[in-house]
Amino acid sequence: MSEPILYDEVPYPGHPYTQTHPDRLATMATLFGLDAPPPGTSNVLELGCGDGGNLIPMAVNMPAARFVGIDISAPAIARAQGIVAALGLANIRFETVGIEDYDPPPASFDYVIAHGVYSWIAAPLRDRLLAVASAALSERGVAYVSYNTLPGGYLRQALREMLAFALAGVDEPAERMAAARAVLAEATTLWPGGQGLERTLGGQARMLHEQGDPLFLHDTLAPVNKALYFAEFATHAGGHGLQFLAEAEFTEMQIRALPENLQPRVLAMDTVRREQMLDFYKQRMFRQTLLCHADRPLDVEPRPERLATLAAAGPITATPEEDTDRVAFTGSAGSRIATAQPLLVEALERIAAAWPGAVRIREVAGGESATDEALALLCGALLPAFAANLVRLHVHPAEVSVIPGRFPRVSPLARLQARDRTLLTTARHTVVHLEDDLGWRLVGLLDGTRDRAALLAEIEPTADREHANLARDIERSLNTLGRLALLLPGDDEPAG
Ligand SMILES: C[S@@+](CC[C@H](N)C(=O)[O-])C[C@H]1O[C@@H](n2cnc3c(N)ncnc32)[C@H](O)[C@@H]1O
Repeated sequence: MSEPILYDEVPYPGHPYTQTHPDRLATMATLFGLDAPPPGTSNVLELGCGDGGNLIPMAVNMPAARFVGIDISAPAIARAQGIVAALGLANIRFETVGIEDYDPPPASFDYVIAHGVYSWIAAPLRDRLLAVASAALSERGVAYVSYNTLPGGYLRQALREMLAFALAGVDEPAERMAAARAVLAEATTLWPGGQGLERTLGGQARMLHEQGDPLFLHDTLAPVNKALYFAEFATHAGGHGLQFLAEAEFTEMQIRALPENLQPRVLAMDTVRREQMLDFYKQRMFRQTLLCHADRPLDVEPRPERLATLAAAGPITATPEEDTDRVAFTGSAGSRIATAQPLLVEALERIAAAWPGAVRIREVAGGESATDEALALLCGALLPAFAANLVRLHVHPAEVSVIPGRFPRVSPLARLQARDRTLLTTARHTVVHLEDDLGWRLVGLLDGTRDRAALLAEIEPTADREHANLARDIERSLNTLGRLALLLPGDDEPAG
């Protein structure tokens, strides 16, 4: 999010972003009436892909899809290429090239991703980014572009301008970060005692102060950090023949949090106006927008029946409510739905039991013998559960083994990541950190060739506990890996 040379000097560690995954892009497209290409066999392009932290796990988990990542930073691309070589991946290619010089064949990619790039490059490059995305996108393809938005962005803009003023003439990255943190530390001691805007700024200053070096340098202290109104972004995209499809997070599009008297007026607005008004109401700072070709007909509202082809997943806990026949279902980040509707109760219980795997919605409604009525009822009930972020919907659900089989296995990427014990990428395109040494050791060994006896034999010579306890702890640890979506299916037979 600054001069490319800075990314060479201070690396920006890559990360898998679930909201950029072709599965998410295709799911949102399905909901809004666009029949996007199946992710598992699609062509995917990432612009400003950094060290491939987002794209490589996709390539590992979708071997029949093809991936291209481009970035202007040669060291970042070299790191990505190193991992590709170590994993022997044949379906992904990285190239050191700037967006300004990149000319993909027309309509050659079904999904185009640009995360954390648009707001951090100069105006002509922002234009070029959308031009490339539009030209590269196949007929029914979906592009993902994230960017900073106004009016929420004004708060951080105020802080960035203070830092730019205070840091004038300080150029060396480490010095800039130290000086900026000192300014923010002073501000955070002053402001919390204040009122109104000072108080709010105090909270923001504290958050910036706590950012890790890569984010702090490349985002907060970036020379270019453009926040714009959503309506301006939509106009910019429109100039390149692209239209707003949806936000990558469906929850972000909901108007339920608005006062009831306001909701009908907001609902009556056209999509761009509604989304812009939501940004004013919510003071939104950041968007993750999905775009498609402007000539594609779309639904303004998702039609529930479209859920019939999807799968549902969610880390849900069911608790029967006292003195009622309702069951309360809670998910991550406080999402909650209480219902007595038998079909929905059964569906959510099955979804909960399958986590981190997913269940096909048609299957839950009765499979082959599902009546149209049951399916419609279930789809109608699950759409609000998706809006509330209680369930996640998938066109291309992750394949996982929830209960470890005889020859448990994790992805080759997870085995590679286990070497330096920082983070592991799950089959759900998220990251986890393991707390226990045994878990890390197991991940390194789980290539699908070892059964329990072989695992025990590998670990026991250096283990700090007795045989019986170790066998029990290995089983526990394997179950944990299963719950974390690290175990892959097909683990009842030894890997060939
Ligand atoms: C903040 S990082 C985001 C990296 C990655 N997309 C992510 O979200 O983790 C911005 C990336 O854009 C790259 N970049 C900056 N200017 C570029 C350009 N003109 N062409 C291609 N990549 C560029 C940087 O090298 C850097 O890797």
